[in-house]
Amino acid sequence: MFGSKTQSLQVRAQKVIPLGVNSNFRFWGDGVTPYVERSKGGYLWDVDGKKYIDYRMAFGPIILGHSYDEVDQKVIEEIQKGVLFAMTGELEVAVAEMIVEMSPAIEMVRMACSGTEATMHAIRVARAYTGRELIVKFEGNYHGFHDHTLWSTYAPVEAYGNPRSPIAVPASSGIPKGMREFILTLPFNDFEGFQRVMRSYGDQIAAVISEPCQGNCAAINPQNGFLELIRSETEKYGCVFILDEVKTGFRIANGGAQEYYGIKPDLVTYAKALGNGYPVAAFGGSKEIMSIIGHGVAQGGTYTNNKPGIAGAYATLSVLKAKPVLKTIEKRGKRLMDGLKDIFDENDIPSVFTGYPAMFSFSLNVDKITCQREWARSDHALYLKITQKAISRGVMPDFDAREPWFLCYEHSEADIDDTLNVYAEVVKEAKG
Ligand SMILES: Cc1ncc(COP(=O)(O)O)c(C=O)c1O
Repeated sequence: MFGSKTQSLQVRAQKVIPLGVNSNFRFWGDGVTPYVERSKGGYLWDVDGKKYIDYRMAFGPIILGHSYDEVDQKVIEEIQKGVLFAMTGELEVAVAEMIVEMSPAIEMVRMACSGTEATMHAIRVARAYTGRELIVKFEGNYHGFHDHTLWSTYAPVEAYGNPRSPIAVPASSGIPKGMREFILTLPFNDFEGFQRVMRSYGDQIAAVISEPCQGNCAAINPQNGFLELIRSETEKYGCVFILDEVKTGFRIANGGAQEYYGIKPDLVTYAKALGNGYPVAAFGGSKEIMSIIGHGVAQGGTYTNNKPGIAGAYATLSVLKAKPVLKTIEKRGKRLMDGLKDIFDENDIPSVFTGYPAMFSFSLNVDKITCQREWARSDHALYLKITQKAISRGVMPDFDAREPWFLCYEHSEADIDDTLNVYAEVVKEAKG
């Protein structure tokens, strides 16, 4: 699938970096892991010089396009005035103002550097605000690498036990056993199970954290009323509702899933599309909750106002406000989804499409997907076979069927046509 330079760089990398990558998610296996040279717009080139239409978009951050000139120019201009200060600058205040203006649920916000940090801080604040310790999270959702929620994320679903009394499964060795005491896991879209848990533990729960859709499990959509149920039950029991918009924020709408679904969580987390690839994140919410920060509640970080991240966010949000970015992505993404669906139909392969035009997934040889347990029954082998063939022909979604396809503003109509032409061939071939 990849050329000789890619292979030899992997061998070299593996001598000094575990697995030869700086995040486990970037490892696809020996001999099949890509190594990148550069990217621009909707494309990237691997170290062998092969060009791809990129649908991974760095796991979602690239909303405008790789190396988007307006954003890069602003970052270059700003870093020439200094990169990091133990002091607040006007630009970060302006970014906070823009986030508050664009986010229906946010009145105050703090900046961070990654999604992991944003959710970790939000959980701390929720616990401090409620004086409680339990966290509810949904199977298949991912909220970053910290120990608080790295449970029932990627495990084989057989380990999750009966859905009436799910077993929380740590997604890594090294997570203290004691952390299990603080976590309750549930299948996504399980209305009844969620109400049962709230009835039993509601007054001990600090926060219910959820992605709006399962952005780390095939972008499974919330069923009608599920997010609203989380909202009403958390309100009833005085728990904090943390909506993790790290993947959906500034991607499915300028106001994220809050705007898309008309939902008002207590806290929201952002990262990814906020900075079009620059390292920046944020968490925010109601003034009442956020105001406890600094009053006996610790939060901060040396790099939380790093200039590349802040300038990247400033420029990205400015472009999102000024140009029809998400409308354009929606139109092209919809055409891509519809075209792919037609191809699977023509080849008699049952397919379920989930997510949104800006970040969508498809699962094969199943007829419905509402949670990770159902997704696990889909045909991963066929997905992988098709994906490998597509990558060989220059179209690159992720190897892992759980990772959605991401579009950016600079994916053109021609890119969509090229992708559909490639898929028309490879689906037919893979089916055999
Ligand atoms: C929903 C969600 N939350 C949190 C994170 C963690 O973000 P980061 O990788 O920036 O730490 C991710 C990463 O994919 C995510 O998808």
